[in-house]
Amino acid sequence: MDATAAVAAVTPSEAETVYELTGVSKTYERNAVVALQDVSVTLRSGSFSSVIGASGCGKSTLLKIMAGLIPPSRGRVVLQGKPVLGPRRDIGMMFQQATLFPWRTTIENIVLPIEIRDGRRAAQEAKARGRELLDLVGLSGFADAYPSQLSGGMAQRAAICRMLITEPAVLLLDEPFSAVDELTRDFMNMELQRICLARQATAFLVTHSIPEAVILSDTVYIMAPRPGRVAEVVPIDLPRPRTLDMITTPYFSDIVRHIRARLDEGAGS
Ligand SMILES: Nc1ncnc2c1ncn2[C@@H]1O[C@H](COP(=O)(O)OP(=O)(O)OP(=O)(O)O)[C@@H](O)[C@H]1O
Ligand SMILES: [Mg+2]
Repeated sequence: MDATAAVAAVTPSEAETVYELTGVSKTYERNAVVALQDVSVTLRSGSFSSVIGASGCGKSTLLKIMAGLIPPSRGRVVLQGKPVLGPRRDIGMMFQQATLFPWRTTIENIVLPIEIRDGRRAAQEAKARGRELLDLVGLSGFADAYPSQLSGGMAQRAAICRMLITEPAVLLLDEPFSAVDELTRDFMNMELQRICLARQATAFLVTHSIPEAVILSDTVYIMAPRPGRVAEVVPIDLPRPRTLDMITTPYFSDIVRHIRARLDEGAGS
């Protein structure tokens, strides 16, 4: 298939801005740690961006601020034209662990955000949509299975469905696949891309894997630690849909090498 044929008519670089973070800083008062200093991030509609950096450089802090879970000490966070002042319905988040409730079936876990938001009846009605999502991630037939009957990768896919059930405009992903094996992870990454392209979702991914960041992203934010800040913003100029064989191209290896060198510099600062 011609990879360029599937590129959306509007490329992310000309699409409207969905997220705008300007001069965001965060000091945790409790221990006076400056977790973030003057971080600015712009996410365009339908774009996929990643943030990569050493442990403790403020990636999760950044995601929590974007999600409205914690306030910044300074700076502005605007989503779809409105300041983020607390948790919002148009944001979906996913963490390292799938955190499905073991006493609920897969489908009951998936509609839980609807149950919390709109009540039991709405959750019941959302099950049909939940089943469609299960089809989308290749889990047809597992709606009534319990989490203990799912593999780690399957549980993560169920967690993707749970994130998507509220139809968030933005997906904030904090190392969602770091606990799954490498083969499953490659597969999940391609799934994630497919879902994002199909739904024209805007995604922001925290990862420790440089190849994962490069294969998925239109833009990679490299962060440096102490204090956490953006060291470089790297555009990734590969056509969509991305395929795993792109990993073997010279362009891919050059970008990976460049990012690794910047991270090595940052780690020493
Ligand atoms: N709730 C908190 N209270 C005080 N300090 C915190 C809190 N959360 C994080 N920190 C500190 O802020 C800094 C950034 O932490 P954060 O979790 O954002 O880093 P990270 O880049 O996500 O790291 P990792 O890659 O290990 O997940 C660290 O020095 C950490 O100790
Ligand atoms: Mg983290």
